[in-house]
Amino acid sequence: MRTQVAIVGAGPAGLLLGALLHRHGVDNLIVEQRSPAYVLGRIRAGVLEQVTVGLLEEAGVAARLHAEGLPHEGFDLCFAGQRHRIDLQRLVGKHVTVYGQTEVTRDLMEHRTAIGRSTVYEAQDVAVHDFDGEQPRVSYRLGGQAHEIQADFIVGCDGFHGVSRASVPAAALKTYEKIYPFGWLGVLADVPPVAHELIYGNTERGFMLASMRSATRSRYYVQCSLDDKVENWSDEAFWDEFRRRLPAEDAARLVTGPSLEKSIAPLRSFVAEPMRFGRLFLAGDAAHIVPPTGAKGLNLAAGDVGLLSRAFAEFYAGSHGSRHVGIDTYSQRALARVWKAERFSWWFTSLMHQFPENGEFGARMQLAELEYMFTSEAAQRAVAENYVGLPLA
Ligand code: APR
Ligand code: PHB
Repeated sequence: MRTQVAIVGAGPAGLLLGALLHRHGVDNLIVEQRSPAYVLGRIRAGVLEQVTVGLLEEAGVAARLHAEGLPHEGFDLCFAGQRHRIDLQRLVGKHVTVYGQTEVTRDLMEHRTAIGRSTVYEAQDVAVHDFDGEQPRVSYRLGGQAHEIQADFIVGCDGFHGVSRASVPAAALKTYEKIYPFGWLGVLADVPPVAHELIYGNTERGFMLASMRSATRSRYYVQCSLDDKVENWSDEAFWDEFRRRLPAEDAARLVTGPSLEKSIAPLRSFVAEPMRFGRLFLAGDAAHIVPPTGAKGLNLAAGDVGLLSRAFAEFYAGSHGSRHVGIDTYSQRALARVWKAERFSWWFTSLMHQFPENGEFGARMQLAELEYMFTSEAAQRAVAENYVGLPLA
């Protein structure tokens, strides 16, 4: 098989890249190691920046998002008995859209089928070859048969544990990593959200987040210890803990119910530089990870593939002189946005979680920062500007 762009991974990054390339008339193939059901079964965050919404519109995959997504013009921060709303619309004139990543992935999968683009699912032993030359290849096995795709370019959209970054010689990569000393215990339940906007709380018992997927489906999180196990948490135990971390007025109206999904996720910051190696490009979680506090993971993946799709469109359509500009500057432009989102995600995580190891002084620094933010329009605007998402270069 031959294509112009071979994409490894059919998560949000790979699927959105495929849809954008199709829009720009660039031929592409996606190779995914899991089944469609497995990919859809992953529960991830659900806050879309306007840049992400715009890219889904550009790809022609925003109809259901506009019909079912929930525009959110602000969110609440709770700390030490205080509560303050960050008014995104007033501060920066933008809002975010609450719409689950699972639904984004579903929409992209259905779109890809509708446009007749193929995705190879349940591919085994996927490998990338010769990306330092002019004729890169992707090989894989399907049903016991060996297959190969010749391409002009390969894009690794295969996530943190994928094969693409792992195929780059270690000497060619610089990685940066921070592991946080706690996890997030998350519950998805068909109960009405406790509030109409998101509530982020830093309580003495730890971080809490009240989020949602719709008016009838809630997504709630509590900070837990790294060695905690999800089997230690019955639904009842979770609801009791979540209720204790909610502000009293919300706890009083909390509706509980059976969990549809319950899991513990570790928190990590990670960046691999550069994001290009000859004719292999990295995008999304394959190149960077953020702690979920700032809801940046999906949005950074979308930004990467937005830049890449325009770079490839320019390459295939542009005059000989300019055709390489986008692909030659992709890594530097993507990383400029990635590092700013890494900083915001790290800062927000450091502000909103309990770090006993930081002692009383660390706790007072958190309190001082939050009290400064509650009284400073400039500080609130900085938070709002980062939360709604920075512009695409
Ligand atoms: N071969 C083929 N596919 C692979 C391989 C491989 N060797 N390794 C991983 N994959 C697939 C995974 O099965 C997954 O479907 O690549 C896809 C990567 O998807 P994600 O991990 O979702 O990463 P990305 O598309 O960059 O989306 C980032 O997803 O994980 C969340 O928090 C993250 O919101 C962020 C978003
Ligand atoms: C979610 O809805 O899963 C979610 C929302 C906001 C975050 C993180 C997760 O910051």
